[in-house]
Amino acid sequence: MDKVAITGATGLMGRSLMTILGASFNTQGIGFNRASGNIHKLDLNDEAAITAFLDEHQPDALIHAAAERRPDICEQAPEQALALNVKVTEFLAQQCKKRNIRLLFISTDYVFDGDNAPYDEFSKTNPLNFYGQSKQRAEQAVLATCGQHTIIRVPVLYGDVTHLAESAVTVIAEQVNPLKHSKHDNWAIRYPTHVEDIACTIRDLLKHPQHLGGIFHISNHQALSKYEMACIIADVLGYPKTLLEPQSKPEHTAQRPYNCALKDTRLSKLNIQHQRDFNKAIAQVLNSNR
Ligand SMILES: NC(=O)c1ccc[n+]([C@@H]2O[C@H](COP(=O)([O-])OP(=O)(O)OC[C@H]3O[C@@H](n4cnc5c(N)ncnc54)[C@H](OP(=O)(O)O)[C@@H]3O)[C@@H](O)[C@H]2O)c1
Repeated sequence: MDKVAITGATGLMGRSLMTILGASFNTQGIGFNRASGNIHKLDLNDEAAITAFLDEHQPDALIHAAAERRPDICEQAPEQALALNVKVTEFLAQQCKKRNIRLLFISTDYVFDGDNAPYDEFSKTNPLNFYGQSKQRAEQAVLATCGQHTIIRVPVLYGDVTHLAESAVTVIAEQVNPLKHSKHDNWAIRYPTHVEDIACTIRDLLKHPQHLGGIFHISNHQALSKYEMACIIADVLGYPKTLLEPQSKPEHTAQRPYNCALKDTRLSKLNIQHQRDFNKAIAQVLNSNR
């Protein structure tokens, strides 16, 4: 294993994959609107451009992280979400099988309905919203194309953001205010996971002597509602917590699951564990963004 190509390399997770995998492998990132420098600019909806890229770079592994991951946008523009999240993934799965490239497809905890947590790698999927359905379809296409391909499910992510609204976690720092009341969901339970922990886990999977296909779950173990995250973030920013209002009913266009806790049973058996304390890590992220 030497050459690793990464789609979504300009995104939140992709940037971390580029940095961490770049220390161990020969990486080639693919981006689109934000592609610059060494990142290959490519519209993944263009199949001829994908085959030309694979012909030229001949990676040993391809990490497919590009997606439309915003549930409300997926609901508003379903055709575009289907094209990127499902059709592109199907095509990449076929091309990778044909070319003997190991595919690692990044999926989501939103493939579950959230009513029967925790979920292990073999639990039945039942997505509640269109985004989750698109990722479920993509997962099924990947596994049907090649049993050796890998699916990696992750929960809500945070890390070094280009702007606070880039992640559903750091955006809370924009919503809290030192002078005004702000409302935060206290119903859904989430497991905010730092993208560096995902990248370190994927590096370890790629370095493992065995080819590990099938489904993997990567998740931080700390359970928090958005309101609880807001309390931690308010402390970091020095804002009064008395201005934070917990909401007991979710307010979203697309339906969200209650609790999609992902059990990482396969990673535990392999002794691959990268976890960090949310309170410390979010403070680092926010302080470096000030
Ligand atoms: N963020 C989360 O909380 C979360 C939670 C669970 C699962 N996930 C999954 O994790 C993966 C990574 O998410 P992320 O948050 O890092 O995503 P992100 O920051 O929204 O980045 C999306 C990436 O997709 C690329 N992209 C979009 N359309 C493209 C196209 N037509 N051709 C080529 N590239 C295209 C973007 O490139 P440009 O910006 O350069 O156009 C960008 O690099 C996704 O598969 C997502 O479903 C994310």
